[in-house]
Amino acid sequence: MISAAEFRQQFSIFDETVYCASCSQGALSTVVAKAIGDFVQGWNREGAQWEAWTASVESARRRFALLIHARPEDIAVVPSASEGVFQVVSSLRLDSDAVVLTSRLEFPSVAQVLLNTAGPRVHFVDQDGLVLTADDYAGYLTDQTRLVSVPLVSYKNGYRPPVQDIAGIAHRNGAAVLVDAYQGAGAVAIDVQALDCDFLVAGSLKYLLGTGGVAFVYVHPKWHDRLRPVMTGWFGRVNPYAFDPQSVDFASAARRLETGTPAVLPARATDAALALWDGVDSAIVERHIAGLVSRLQAEIQEQGRRWLGHSAGDRPWGPMAALETADPAGLDAHLRSRGIVGSPRGPAVRLSFHYYNTDEDVLRIVDALKDWPRDRWG
Ligand SMILES: Cc1ncc(COP(=O)(O)O)c(C=O)c1O
Repeated sequence: MISAAEFRQQFSIFDETVYCASCSQGALSTVVAKAIGDFVQGWNREGAQWEAWTASVESARRRFALLIHARPEDIAVVPSASEGVFQVVSSLRLDSDAVVLTSRLEFPSVAQVLLNTAGPRVHFVDQDGLVLTADDYAGYLTDQTRLVSVPLVSYKNGYRPPVQDIAGIAHRNGAAVLVDAYQGAGAVAIDVQALDCDFLVAGSLKYLLGTGGVAFVYVHPKWHDRLRPVMTGWFGRVNPYAFDPQSVDFASAARRLETGTPAVLPARATDAALALWDGVDSAIVERHIAGLVSRLQAEIQEQGRRWLGHSAGDRPWGPMAALETADPAGLDAHLRSRGIVGSPRGPAVRLSFHYYNTDEDVLRIVDALKDWPRDRWG
């Protein structure tokens, strides 16, 4: 088992910086930097290394499947989470009266894909967009509800909705469940069987510690043959190398959601990043991170300040605390002047943690916050 200290050693950013912005972009590890360098060298030396490049895509698919307790054939590799959501929702070919449920906690791009695909039949179930309960969904579920979308962890504040409860009531009403796990994958343990979801999307560049250009879609096996993609391409075929322009067959597994040439360089980087989880137990990673987040939340409370969603009570929290302030840009600049990198968004500065963060990182943040003039919190 790789310890948190050993894990951290692979990220040289910590030589200079208290890096707490994995909710935006994960830190660069030496293995990912090397994988990118190796890709460039191979390309320079030999031109296309097609077999090695596509092998990286398959390897990343296998590793992601392992991480979420799925099988490789349940995973599609797509260019972004937004495109993954589109591939799922459009492939359902919803009837004109089908209703889709989402919330204000959803990442905008996901909600926007839903709105653009299912239009006025998309209902937002919550009011304030900071916390979300199963009851919020229950009030909106009808015979017409076909799809329920819920984030595993909210990008706004790290709140973790009760996804299993929501999936339970959705399924009892005959609706499928889509989970956006982008703000959780890599930082919280994911078991798609336990979550009881039909679809799950997550991208590479945040807590999975890879780059933009790769995202994954999990498709429950019961959906494999039922999805009818609108957008397709040669990688969605039974045999992409059959080169038959006169027929459109669909791969029997999740791969039918794929379209054109995969992002081979980001896939190489993503595969190297996912290999960081070899010898790492996701449950231990989650516990390590939860300890850091709750320590920061307690200290914030101690200072008489608030994080977004503090009213949620005693729920398990994601890898982030979003510190509420009237001057997020000012607070971000103050933290940066102390070598602390967070991620301002909306009315807050988000501070997010990974297995590479330490108690000392939290203490550095707490000290810096004490120096932030009280009147500037707002
Ligand atoms: C929770 C969540 N979902 C989706 C996205 C969008 O992903 P993509 O840019 O790959 O479409 C983000 C990006 O920040 C996110 O935080």
